[in-house]
Amino acid sequence: MSRRCGLIVALDTPDVAVARRMAATLAPWCGLFKLGLEFFLANGPAGVREVGGRVFLDVKLHDIPNTVAGAVRSAVPLAPRMLTLHAAGGTAMIAAAVQAAATADADHRPLLLAVTVLTSIDAAALAAMGVAGGTRQQVLRLARLAVAAGVDGLVCAPSEVAMLRDALGEAPLLVVPGIRPAGAAAGDQARTATPAEAAAAGADWLVVGRPITGAPDPLAAAAAISAELA
Ligand code: C5P
Repeated sequence: MSRRCGLIVALDTPDVAVARRMAATLAPWCGLFKLGLEFFLANGPAGVREVGGRVFLDVKLHDIPNTVAGAVRSAVPLAPRMLTLHAAGGTAMIAAAVQAAATADADHRPLLLAVTVLTSIDAAALAAMGVAGGTRQQVLRLARLAVAAGVDGLVCAPSEVAMLRDALGEAPLLVVPGIRPAGAAAGDQARTATPAEAAAAGADWLVVGRPITGAPDPLAAAAAISAELA
């Protein structure tokens, strides 16, 4: 099966000028720029606006439905293309977020992506939280719940892409971090895949940070990954 797989660059910095510069440099090769909590808590909505139009706001919302709906309504004027929430917030929370996102004009509605089990959580950590059955079973359970509640897609590890694509079919967007081009340093990522491997497994978007932003020539690094996806 061949799907078109796009590139998202994670701009993990608290510095607006650095993020703007990187976004301008990489724009030819990158579909979206991911801004997370480090950036957002340092710079707020004004910082997001400065980075510009193609933003994935990765703030992983998780609260009671009323509060998450309000947070989504507050995010809508920033027009992020994607917005994350935790599937563990449950059906009512996700449904409230979906409804709130639908208040945006059709052209500006953010795609809602659910995070299932953080990749930093292993089976022992899940068991300590009272969840039996291991991480893959919990990922699948939360993924089904989130899709049934109306999310557009899921954030998942490379090792989960094939399982989720098989279980959930073609529709949900699968957005995949933990990507390392062959030969790149893994850093703190434990389970990685190359861009080509993740795309072949069924990913729609790859999230890449340090292999691009920390490269001696970020534009060349992004171009090489894009070439691997073409
Ligand atoms: O630098 P690197 O390519 O490891 O960056 C990956 C990005 O994806 C970071 O912003 C990280 O926070 C995010 N992420 C991740 N693993 C997840 C979810 C998000 O690495 N499970």
